[in-house]
Amino acid sequence: MVDQRVIVTGAAGFIGWATCEALLARGATVVGVDNFNDYYDVALKDARAARLEAHESFTMHRLDIADADAVKQLVSDVDPYVVVNLAAQAGVRYSLERPDVYVQSNLVGFLSILEACRAQVESGAALTHLVYASSSSVYGDSADAPYSVAQKSDEPVSLYAATKKSNELMAHAYSSAFGLPSVGLRFFTVYGPMGRPDMAYFKFTNRLVKGDAIEVYNGGDMLRDFTYIDDIVAGVLSVIDRGAEVVPAGVPHKVYNLGNSHPEKLGDFILTLERCLRDNDLLTTPLQRKDLPMQVGDVYQTFADIEESSRDLGFAPTVGMDEGLSRFARWYAEYYRDERS
Ligand SMILES: NC(=O)c1ccc[n+]([C@@H]2O[C@H](COP(=O)([O-])OP(=O)(O)OC[C@H]3O[C@@H](n4cnc5c(N)ncnc54)[C@H](O)[C@@H]3O)[C@@H](O)[C@H]2O)c1
Repeated sequence: MVDQRVIVTGAAGFIGWATCEALLARGATVVGVDNFNDYYDVALKDARAARLEAHESFTMHRLDIADADAVKQLVSDVDPYVVVNLAAQAGVRYSLERPDVYVQSNLVGFLSILEACRAQVESGAALTHLVYASSSSVYGDSADAPYSVAQKSDEPVSLYAATKKSNELMAHAYSSAFGLPSVGLRFFTVYGPMGRPDMAYFKFTNRLVKGDAIEVYNGGDMLRDFTYIDDIVAGVLSVIDRGAEVVPAGVPHKVYNLGNSHPEKLGDFILTLERCLRDNDLLTTPLQRKDLPMQVGDVYQTFADIEESSRDLGFAPTVGMDEGLSRFARWYAEYYRDERS
């Protein structure tokens, strides 16, 4: 690839960091954007950023994507051929406590990304397309599994899901009105090393290594399409490469599912996690769990139909739950070794 200049927002985040690493490994020039907010452990964001900053062809900009002028200036200065917007306030439960943050990052912030990209398209700059994160949560609780993009997805059960669905509508409007090519990716429960400490598998691990009981909603009777980070990154790279070709003529906007398409019972996931933690000497006491009812905003199951993603993007997840959790546990043991000793 010739001079791949890419802007990745949310670069200090889990998926953003992993995407940047993969882009840098194949010789791209990457400009990262992140506001390093303290929604979860900032030290982990700093550690991800430090790894990226070790590459000569990476620069990090600490800014808020809701700062429309700064975003527009940066996109104009960098003149990227692709913008990948992964910055957002993630998490379903936190949207019950702090809805304002979701509106600011996911709606106001996303609008400034769209505006900056629109300016590039209108000025005839290099930008070929925008790639942005959506979420499996847009399917709510009433879709038929497996969830295909063709299904109705306008009955969100959390504000987080509502902002992600809004992103798809906003992107469609910009593609229609201004010819901005864009591809939205509905990610399904992404996990792995350097992952997000607010997600269940990571929270369980933090508690189990201390010998504390874990809180399991709905008695573990929930299905999640857990998707390993490397599989997600392969999908994102494919959209970076092929996005401008897969969008339809007319309104150049398209949405894809990126999920493992192999849902697991949460209860089975916990048993596998327990085994992987024991294998790495992270758990030596019996597992204790406290069963709690289903939480507001949670859905019973997620299950991606990936027929279109496979056909158009060559998306083919390869890492199953055993391997994925084993890699996570090995990383956790290594990364937090000093803190535990
Ligand atoms: N991890 C998953 O399972 C999952 C599932 C579905 C969708 N998603 C979406 O994928 C994207 C990446 O998720 P992630 O898991 O890497 O989350 P993450 O929280 O680790 O990464 C998001 C990053 O964006 C940054 N950020 C947030 N608001 C910002 C703002 N206003 N300006 C600049 N930076 C800001 C945060 O500091 C963080 O580093 C998000 O859009 C998320 O909603 C993730």
